[in-house]
Amino acid sequence: MVKVEGLVKHFQGHRGDVQAVNGVSFEVPEGSFFTLLGPSGCGKSTTLRCLAGLEDPEDGDIYIGERLVYSRRQGRSVSAHDRGVGMVFQSYAIWPHMTVFENVAFPLRAGKKRYSAASIHEKVKRSLEQVKLGGLEDRPAPYLSGGQQQRLAVARALVAEPKVLLLDEPLSNLDARLREHMRLELRELQRRLNITAIYVTHDQVEALALSDAIAVMNQGQIVQLGSPAEIYSSPRNSFVADFFGWGNIIEAEICEATAGGLTLVATSQGNVQCSVPDGWRQGDKVLLAARPENVQVFRPPAPDEDNLWEGEVQAAAFLGDSLDCQVVVAGQTIRVRAHPSLGLRLGEKVHLRIPPESWAVLPHP
Ligand SMILES: Nc1ncnc2c1ncn2[C@@H]1O[C@H](COP(=O)(O)OP(=O)(O)OP(=O)(O)O)[C@@H](O)[C@H]1O
Ligand SMILES: [Mg+2]
Repeated sequence: MVKVEGLVKHFQGHRGDVQAVNGVSFEVPEGSFFTLLGPSGCGKSTTLRCLAGLEDPEDGDIYIGERLVYSRRQGRSVSAHDRGVGMVFQSYAIWPHMTVFENVAFPLRAGKKRYSAASIHEKVKRSLEQVKLGGLEDRPAPYLSGGQQQRLAVARALVAEPKVLLLDEPLSNLDARLREHMRLELRELQRRLNITAIYVTHDQVEALALSDAIAVMNQGQIVQLGSPAEIYSSPRNSFVADFFGWGNIIEAEICEATAGGLTLVATSQGNVQCSVPDGWRQGDKVLLAARPENVQVFRPPAPDEDNLWEGEVQAAAFLGDSLDCQVVVAGQTIRVRAHPSLGLRLGEKVHLRIPPESWAVLPHP
């Protein structure tokens, strides 16, 4: 288990004080895969580095396993090499003047604990086998491919048998295919070793594919924490919605309840019916969000359905399996992911329909 409570970290930059981490709290059950996800500069790496003991926070408590490794109030800060964590850096930080073997052996030789030569040999060998680099012990580290260097960095992080593995954007240097492959490998390794992993990325697909739980960060704070399915389908605010591909976010006002448990909501594009969660009242200003792939497109005549809007195609880009369109409805651009066989033309008049179940209701900022 890893537990972080009220973590705060500032930096004194040349342009003044930067609040990199601003009251971050989360809990990661043992053996699970947890991801910190967010845009550049939101404080992901700083949070991870505080966990590793590479940054000194101003406030908060950090538990690794049952052990309190950092507490501002109790004046405790366990040193980095004594926290029982392994870390993989974005740059891998592999030492080019060493062989594969020496790179992996380094944490064992540099730590406080003394290991015999035989034990180092056995641990390094096992660690390299775990990441499928067995047999490459004597190769100089620079003579590895990108994917092999990434595996080497993981082997080095695992060699001292840490309870927790911290990974900071470990796949971002790899090309798209290799990244996908290594993603599966990492997840399989984490499950096989039953190790607790905390992973940092700005790539939502990576986060969805790997994680048991995701914390979405913005400006030093966690803005939503949940399972991949929860975060993908029920964003809590417009930041998370936007980050997870809800390409249409429009201003709206709650009107009245209608039949079938639905509510009428007014927008400048027209009224729609959708399901509104408890807590919203008539007259409340909200945001409505919908994914481009959930917008239906019809050529005239309009079908006899609810939630219909009339618009004009302003742009259409062919993406192979879909047509990425912008349709202007009463001055607002609606993103639509249509079927390419529809062959929409610029300037064409169409009807759009976003079904009641495809809308998410979000708080107005
Ligand atoms: N050593 C430092 N000195 C001053 N400011 C720093 C330092 N390290 C980080 N920061 C600032 O703290 C904020 C958070 O940085 P952090 O590296 O945690 O972001 P990140 O979410 O990992 O971003 P990225 O996805 O770009 O790696 C940023 O505004 C960054 O400029
Ligand atoms: Mg970072």
